[in-house]
Parts: sequence; structure tokens; C-alpha cells
Amino acid sequence: MKITFLLGAFLVVLFLSCQGESAIKHEQYVAEGFTLFQTHCANCHQRDGKGLENLYPALSTDYLKDKAQVICWIKNGVHQPMTVNGKIYNRAMPANPDLKELEIAEIMTYVYATWGKETEITTVKTVQTALEKCPSK
Ligand code: HEC
Repeated sequence: MKITFLLGAFLVVLFLSCQGESAIKHEQYVAEGFTLFQTHCANCHQRDGKGLENLYPALSTDYLKDKAQVICWIKNGVHQPMTVNGKIYNRAMPANPDLKELEIAEIMTYVYATWGKETEITTVKTVQTALEKCPSK
């Protein structure tokens, strides 16, 4: 009886401390991702993600659904017609060949925390797996 209780208490503590750690990691990724977003994305999509007139689309949940695809677009760029908020965009988004996998993971975490309300990080592993399967340019 006592043992069960102790074990239960131990598991609860373990669970809480893990949660704390993953929340801290999430905050770190969001902070780094915020800075990287200002440097690599905000010129076009703007700091508030609302885009710029008919030139650059607002970040849209329609296109954020497919994470692997967004990872490929960040790394390799994209050029295909996209409809966002009823407007058609068809300008190229440039590639970011120099961004490291960790940096892409941080940008993704920031974007999905801000425009997708996610509380989990996008891991480096997720980025690696997606990049391996990107359509060839
Ligand atoms: C030079 C301007 C430019 C920069 C910098 C840029 N983008 Fe884009 N982005 C575009 C354009 C233009 C499109 C539409 C592409 C098309 O139609 O082929 C787009 C499309 C997108 C889309 C899909 C459509 C939407 O609005 O949801 C996402 C997501 C996206 N960009 C994220 C990013 C992220 C994250 C970064 C930073 C790593 C970034 N972009 C940097 C211009 C840019």
C-alpha cells in the first residue's frame, strides 16, 4: 500500500519535472526562433505574419498544416501559385541554404507557437526527416 503510494508520488514528480523541462525547451526554441524569423522571414511576411499587400502572403493555417512541406520551403524555397485570404500569390520565396537544422527547428517552433498555437517544439529530428524527403528542386 505504502509502496504503491510512494511509487505513485514518484511518478507524479517525474512527470511534472519532465513537463517543466519540455516547457523550458519550448520557450528557448521560441526565443531563438523569434530572432531568426525577424532576420529571415519578416522582411516579406512581416513581424505580425500578416504579409505585404499582393506581394507576400500572410502566414496561413491552410499552408501550415503540412509541416514537412513548410520545412522544405524554408530550406529550398518555393515557387508555385498559392491562394491566401482570397488573393493569388505567385512570386518565388527564396531558399535558405545556410540555415542549420536546429535553426529551422527553432523557426518552425516559433511559427507554430505564434500562428498555430502549438506548445510542442518541432524537433531537429523532424526537420532532418522532412529534409531527406523534400522533392528535388
Ligand atoms: C523574399 C520574401 C520572402 C521571405 C524572406 C520568406 N518568404 Fe515565405 N513566402 C514568400 C512568398 C512570395 C510566398 C508565396 C510563394 C509562392 O506563391 O510560390 C511565401 C510562402 C510562404 C508560406 C506558405 C504560404 C503562407 O503564407 O502560409 C509559408 C508558410 C512561408 N512562406 C513561410 C516562410 C518562413 C518561415 C520564412 C523564413 C524562414 C519565409 N517564408 C521567408 C516570400 C518570402
